[in-house]
Amino acid sequence: MSLLQIRDLTKKIGSKVIVDQVTLNMEKGEILGLLGPNGAGKTTTIRMIVGLMSKSGGQVLINGTDTQAHFEQAMKQVGVIVENPDLYKYLSGYDNLIHFSRMTPGVTEARIREVVALVSLEHNINDKVATYSLGMRQRLGLAVVLVHKPSLLVLDEPTNGLDPAGIRELRGHLKHLAGQEGVGILISSHLMSEMEQMCDRVAIIQKGKLVGIHKISDMADDQRSKVSFEVDRPDLAVQVLQTIMSGNEITTDHRHIQIHVDKDQIPEITRMLMAAGINIFGVHTFRQSLEDKFIEITGGEYH
Ligand SMILES: Nc1ncnc2c1ncn2[C@@H]1O[C@H](COP(=O)(O)OP(=O)(O)OP(=O)(O)O)[C@@H](O)[C@H]1O
Ligand SMILES: [Mg+2]
Repeated sequence: MSLLQIRDLTKKIGSKVIVDQVTLNMEKGEILGLLGPNGAGKTTTIRMIVGLMSKSGGQVLINGTDTQAHFEQAMKQVGVIVENPDLYKYLSGYDNLIHFSRMTPGVTEARIREVVALVSLEHNINDKVATYSLGMRQRLGLAVVLVHKPSLLVLDEPTNGLDPAGIRELRGHLKHLAGQEGVGILISSHLMSEMEQMCDRVAIIQKGKLVGIHKISDMADDQRSKVSFEVDRPDLAVQVLQTIMSGNEITTDHRHIQIHVDKDQIPEITRMLMAAGINIFGVHTFRQSLEDKFIEITGGEYH
């Protein structure tokens, strides 16, 4: 059974469809990114998943439990941070953890120590939250939602406002949680490169619709790459390539010609170019990035 199942999730406000029949599954130990530009519907989707906003249609199941029919039972297994974590500024980090853990019966002192270590806050846990940096507050927020050992973590734009070191650190914590503790993590962002580094799969959402789901590891193994040849006679090279590769778009930039081909076509291309008397000074292949994929899917329209 999937950790999270979302079926035809829809939100309408007035005549406007903000989230349009989103269907997706995610598994235990997986980090799934919800990627889309500002206003795409990420926060709305997340709010409906965790019951902070009513749905206009569709169904959400957490470990098979319907969130509508059995809200409390479903949410017991979920840790959520939408926007900024709610924390008491004038209490220490530790007292915040004690305060929030009272809502869940059976949280031990040992578990609190464990989550503090998990987010590397050992040295600051007795300081008042008012003295914390944004990154430290984010980490404490994460500790608060981890205390009750959720099997699903839902984080809306958790890297907002963090510096690159903070983002890297958060990424480390989340990968540890997913990899070592089997927590499923649903995370939203509008930053493609960040999603690419953080997630196992990325669901692209555009104008409320899910337009594609991509496994990052598949993209890394993708045999079709952009290849750039550095040559001394680019015009002639284009002519040669057009005869053997009709249909593939070829672009040139001074001495470089670029073409999307399968890797196993590279030897044939180099042979053809050399046979035409063209000198080759370099061959570079570029892995297709999430950004390329996104442009391929949406026709470059990122809004
Ligand atoms: N209460 C509301 N009433 C009307 N429209 C709303 C309401 N809440 C959200 N919207 C609209 O729904 C769309 C999706 O908003 P949402 O906040 O889910 O986007 P998002 O993907 O999270 O964007 P961002 O990257 O800016 O956080 C936007 O066009 C927004 O204007
Ligand atoms: Mg949002």
